[in-house]
Amino acid sequence: MTTITYIEASGQRTDVDVADGWSLMQAAITSGVDGIIGECGGSCACATCHCYVDEARLGELPPPSPGELDMLANVAAERRANSRLACQIKASPLLEGLILTLPETQE
Ligand code: FES
Repeated sequence: MTTITYIEASGQRTDVDVADGWSLMQAAITSGVDGIIGECGGSCACATCHCYVDEARLGELPPPSPGELDMLANVAAERRANSRLACQIKASPLLEGLILTLPETQE
């Protein structure tokens, strides 16, 4: 299990214990975190799982694939240097304590 913290646009903060290998989108949905939709179920085809990764830890994540970069061009909220798609990030012990901030809108 890896603890991930989600901070919604409202400021609501939720710590979720995520099974290794689960995507951070799946974990948010099943834990009732608002602000992530995950319309495509995690197949990198909707961009409704947009999140902002703690900038200090951005380098700890595998870089986005070309497909993720394509989808990041379609996010509804402002795209930033630390924008990622939560469905493309898998939980692992290396990410313990990672903070994801969620945008105001996904659509
Ligand atoms: S859930 Fe659709 S792109 Fe992440």
